[in-house]
Amino acid sequence: MAKQSKSKSSPAQQESSSKLLSLASISSKERAKILDSLTPQQLIDLRWDWRFWARPEQLPPEGDWRSWVIVAGRGFGKTRTGAEFVRDQVKNKSARRIALVGRTAADVRDVMVTGPSGLLAVHPDHERPLYEPSRRRLTWPCGATAHTYTSERSDQLRGPQHDLAWCDELAAWSYPYDTWDQLMFGLRLGNPRCVVTTTPRPIKLLKDLLENPSCAITRGSTFDNKLNLAKAFFDQIIDKYEGTTIGRQEIYADMLTEVPGALWKRSMIDDHRVHQPPATLKRVVVGVDPAVTNKDTSDETGIIVVGLGSDDHFYVLGDGSVKASVDTWARAVVTRYNMHRADKVIAEVNQGGDLVARMINQIDSTVPIKKVHASRGKVLRAEPVAARYEQGRVHHVGALNELEDQLCSYSPMNSKISPDRMDALVYAITELDSKNTIDLKIDSNANYQPRNFF
Ligand SMILES: Nc1ncnc2c1ncn2[C@@H]1O[C@H](COP(=O)(O)OP(=O)(O)O)[C@@H](O)[C@H]1O
Ligand SMILES: [Mg+2]
Repeated sequence: MAKQSKSKSSPAQQESSSKLLSLASISSKERAKILDSLTPQQLIDLRWDWRFWARPEQLPPEGDWRSWVIVAGRGFGKTRTGAEFVRDQVKNKSARRIALVGRTAADVRDVMVTGPSGLLAVHPDHERPLYEPSRRRLTWPCGATAHTYTSERSDQLRGPQHDLAWCDELAAWSYPYDTWDQLMFGLRLGNPRCVVTTTPRPIKLLKDLLENPSCAITRGSTFDNKLNLAKAFFDQIIDKYEGTTIGRQEIYADMLTEVPGALWKRSMIDDHRVHQPPATLKRVVVGVDPAVTNKDTSDETGIIVVGLGSDDHFYVLGDGSVKASVDTWARAVVTRYNMHRADKVIAEVNQGGDLVARMINQIDSTVPIKKVHASRGKVLRAEPVAARYEQGRVHHVGALNELEDQLCSYSPMNSKISPDRMDALVYAITELDSKNTIDLKIDSNANYQPRNFF
């Protein structure tokens, strides 16, 4: 399934496949004999020898590439590949000033640095860099350093220069273009290189990279790494995504451009995105599409916050959707209501009846709730909202990736995923868009200031 396009396999890749193949092709008895013949030190060395464990497509391709872009499904081993590449570059003295860039500060810290596939985990004790989170810095025993950056603060990349960059989950970055431009501007020491590890999303930056002849491209799917994935993780991914449109992206790393039959197109969102909401909003509501069961396979609860500007445009402020027990999602609704100083919660009560309102009010009895019954079909409800997007009257504040993927891939003809985020968004915008609400005396949200909870 995995394939390396636009690049020949390198000697390291060939060596890796031959080592693995030779060990895999002999009988278990012979294998045990070989392993028994190794000294304890050789066994330890083997444990940390990435060229031994890596699948060929996880090793750097041959050639004079400046960027190596690995676009693959969830669990393919992308993060591990990025971390191992950084380790290798430091070890062979090709890199001394490194930029590590992830979507959020938490992603960089918890995935790229301290995560199970991250930098600290791939180094043996004596090679492991010292991590100082407060300085956003890692220092290797040889003196090489890496600094961490996030796509939410591209300004941090203004100034520092690097000779190597590792960008994880670039297609999910909050401000991909600003961040990439700043990073590239400072990537100018020595013979600079960049490795990008990401599940695809149809953003222009990634499309441009994949078409750039100076990029080496590796593609692969979740199945390529099945043997190394925990069964529960693998089963969960397959159960959730196999056979769905979005699964083509999440498992097989297909770049989904436009999905036939989908009500939303990427450009309807991308062309009108804003960094900040207006300083004043006439009203803010939290749309909720509740999941009333909490079995493993049950749906997510869609929780989407939308504000109405004085220009009568709609600002999608946040997505607090969760897959959790009733008590937990009810708390998430109240958190979003407070965080965005909302006026009201709009909750669909088809399945849960009064339970939905009761659960939210048990956590905070002062939260006003408007119950809506979804009597019209999903598509009929969603069409007028999609039309508002087409008119350029709906603005996403920052990137709301999961909501946007759902909007652009949901088509009643081919989706088995329940579009909970889309439904919650539709309830919220429909509420703000109705004549009644627009005529209301509206002053409760003057001077809108989101509280910074996180
Ligand atoms: N070649 C490999 N050999 C052994 N384990 C691997 C290999 N490639 C990846 N893994 C492991 O598979 C798991 C998933 O890898 P990860 O890099 O987190 O995936 P992704 O970032 O693509 O979602 C991790 O535990 C990782 O260490
Ligand atoms: Mg990863």
